[in-house]
Amino acid sequence: MSAEKFHLAWFLQGSSIQAWNQPWTGNISEEWMTADMFLDLARSLERACFDYILLEDSIYVGQNWKNSRDIFLENGMSVPRQEPTVVASLMAAVTRHLGIVPTLSTFAYHPYLTARITGTLDQVTSGRAGWNLVTGSSDLAAQNFGMDKLPEHDTRYDMAEEYLDIVTKLWDSWEPGAIIADRKTGVLTDPKRVHTIDYEGQHYRSRGPLNSGPCPQGRPVIAQAGGSGRGRSFAAQHAETIVAHMKGVDQMKFYQDDVHAKMAAFGRAPESCKILHLVAPILAETTQDANEIAQRRLAAAGKNLDVKLAQFGWSTNIDFSGADLDAPVGVLSTNGHQQSLAQFLRKAGKNTLREAMTPYGTTGMSVDLIGSPDAVAGQMAEIMQEIDGDGYLIALNNVSRKSVSEITDGLIPALQQRGVVRRAYEHQHLRDNLLAF
Ligand SMILES: Cc1cc2nc3c(=O)[nH]c(=O)nc-3n(C[C@H](O)[C@H](O)[C@H](O)COP(=O)(O)O)c2cc1C
Repeated sequence: MSAEKFHLAWFLQGSSIQAWNQPWTGNISEEWMTADMFLDLARSLERACFDYILLEDSIYVGQNWKNSRDIFLENGMSVPRQEPTVVASLMAAVTRHLGIVPTLSTFAYHPYLTARITGTLDQVTSGRAGWNLVTGSSDLAAQNFGMDKLPEHDTRYDMAEEYLDIVTKLWDSWEPGAIIADRKTGVLTDPKRVHTIDYEGQHYRSRGPLNSGPCPQGRPVIAQAGGSGRGRSFAAQHAETIVAHMKGVDQMKFYQDDVHAKMAAFGRAPESCKILHLVAPILAETTQDANEIAQRRLAAAGKNLDVKLAQFGWSTNIDFSGADLDAPVGVLSTNGHQQSLAQFLRKAGKNTLREAMTPYGTTGMSVDLIGSPDAVAGQMAEIMQEIDGDGYLIALNNVSRKSVSEITDGLIPALQQRGVVRRAYEHQHLRDNLLAF
């Protein structure tokens, strides 16, 4: 929980070329494969002392619009998208302090592989690795892995419990000090301190030990975004940082209180998990300029609702292509991201689909932050104080060197001058930095 300072992380929506047709993105449509812009992003975030960068992921090409992939491919919506663990390794090589948190979906990677990848990332970063643990939300993704569809929503979390148990046991399969590297006796590793796990679960099995060896942090940091009741319980039990997308200050507070109550039931102190709220600040030299940018974005969104609805359908598994834009949103349900849908419906109220979707995610995420760097810094500090929160997860849908610099060289210094974010890293390990305040 916040004392005076709060934490900052960055939510990178895949190292994809989503913003390719927006201004200031350079030659990204030709250069995206080398991930250079995303490596510059990692360097900038480290300069601004962010806790971590989270590399979001999905493992399919969308088809939730007229049962076609066209709109997704034509508009570069979450495709092409690179394997996050590869990009995470490149980011590791160009940074020294920033936490690096790739997403690995439980349905796609075997637990042994996840333990090995995240464990290796922790080694090569000297203790800066995390894992965004997601259970997946699309049957289209499941079909890429030989399944017809994903298991039911709550079953996915039951499976994730077992999955995480295996991963944890594999990380722990090397006792501290197992590598003795005794040159006199010629023994590198003490075999008595490395163990099989012989795990026979309902869904997964693994023998162990992990062959990649021990991690600097012992266990990489677990990030999670459970939003549904079941998801929140899972996050409350296991996560060390939660990324949340709740609409409005009251909902942000409500979510935190709920997670903290659930954490207490698991015997955990609230400060052992940092809940970060998703925001997308719109910055300009003056607040008037920033408001004008926001207005222009709203006007553009209103003219391009198909793309917005397809993107929303992508995360909720709903095909909105036949929906009446001028009818009330009504009742919707999903086996995908339940929380995103619930928050959308809550905000939509009796509005039409057009009225509800146009502003959705256009001028902000959890809350709108629009203004000069100093004005937005003030708003961010006030909100954190009001909700007694842990911090923010910044996400931009127009990632460019310019928009990143507006944050890292405009907003962050304004926050630092207020003394509400760090000016230097306290520790080497990601977990220790998360727990520093
Ligand atoms: C900020 C944020 C980031 C997320 N990142 C991913 C991601 O990278 N991959 C993914 O499959 N799901 C991602 N999700 C979805 C969550 O894993 C989760 O499915 C969603 O919050 C709904 O919660 P529920 O599963 O409890 O219904 C993210 C959600 C949020 C709020």
